[in-house]
Amino acid sequence: MVAPTVDVERTIVDPTEVLDTPCIAVDEAILRQNIAEMAALAAGHGVNLRPHMKTHKTPHIARLQLAAGAVGATCAKLGEAEIFVDQAGIDDVLLAYPVVGEPKLRRLLDLMERARVTVAVDSVAAATGLSAAMAAAGRTLDLYIEVNTGQDRAGASAGEEAVALALAVDRLPGARVVGVMTHEGHAGASDPAVIAGTARNAGAALVNTAAKIRDHGIELPHVSVGSTPSSWYTPAVAGVTEMRPGTYVFYDNSIFRHGRIGPDRCAARVVATVVSRPAAGRAIIDAGSKALAMDPSSSHPGYGYIVGHPAATIARISEEHGVVLPPPEEPGFAVGDRVEVIPNHICPAVNLTDELLIARDGRVADRWPVAARGKVR
Ligand SMILES: Cc1ncc(COP(=O)(O)O)c(C=O)c1O
Repeated sequence: MVAPTVDVERTIVDPTEVLDTPCIAVDEAILRQNIAEMAALAAGHGVNLRPHMKTHKTPHIARLQLAAGAVGATCAKLGEAEIFVDQAGIDDVLLAYPVVGEPKLRRLLDLMERARVTVAVDSVAAATGLSAAMAAAGRTLDLYIEVNTGQDRAGASAGEEAVALALAVDRLPGARVVGVMTHEGHAGASDPAVIAGTARNAGAALVNTAAKIRDHGIELPHVSVGSTPSSWYTPAVAGVTEMRPGTYVFYDNSIFRHGRIGPDRCAARVVATVVSRPAAGRAIIDAGSKALAMDPSSSHPGYGYIVGHPAATIARISEEHGVVLPPPEEPGFAVGDRVEVIPNHICPAVNLTDELLIARDGRVADRWPVAARGKVR
């Protein structure tokens, strides 16, 4: 039997559907496929799936992830965690970000009344603040040690530095080290073979660090990795117990260029209208930085991928203008025409919109609030 050909350049909202733009539309079938496939991948690796909520910030989508088998949520910010606990029924949250400062410590204690919370730390200073708050409240907090396996963002260096930190933190009152985590985001901007090598090295460095910590008598049941492009590789390293991909629910223009994923798997698109055609080689769409965000792509010029127009670039953006350079004579860029743009980085683009328009069979069938948008604290 011949497999049906998939039109990878298919738009998700029918051109006859009346829409006020710019907006973000999400194809529900693609979204569900992405969620189901990552859940199956985690099950195949034999690890827990604890998706990062930063990508969608949307309780409806968190519920779909839980229904597909996710064990809980990863959030960066307390404000995001509060939304998912209160609006999506999440009862187990990892805050994969240092919690520092009195107001946050108070909110953390409040949240711990409503959910099981684990916090990542990468310094004795942050852990000491947490410890003091927990001890004063008569509570014990589970902690992951954040380990830098090459991304060079936060995290104690893999090996002795992370081991020393774990021992110091575990001695603090009200603090219990239960895991290590890394974000191997540095694996994610190249071809699959390079991603695989970087991801496996990161996984091995984390697992070795965990083993050294255990040598000191700390039990350490959790070894947590996470990034979407490395999902096929890092969690396969023996000893990893948990994965935290986020972007996979939608994918984006940075990820679909890595070989495994085509634009047809990018569930979320910024729908924009051509509002000006000031020169033969230039069209203006109504999506600028306030709709697409500003992130560059390491693998594609410009600020997003216009579905169905692979050779067009969004060369420049200001707040309300996207300056598109379409190939000469290419139809689809007359004033009033609509385009679907896959942003370079979908997470900050979603943070700019109040609601997701949910498309079923090309029609907008629902609107889901992006309830955790803008939760920077
Ligand atoms: C700590 C942490 N874990 C997991 C993720 C998810 O990675 P991705 O966006 O590649 O899915 C991120 C993303 O920024 C992160 O910062």
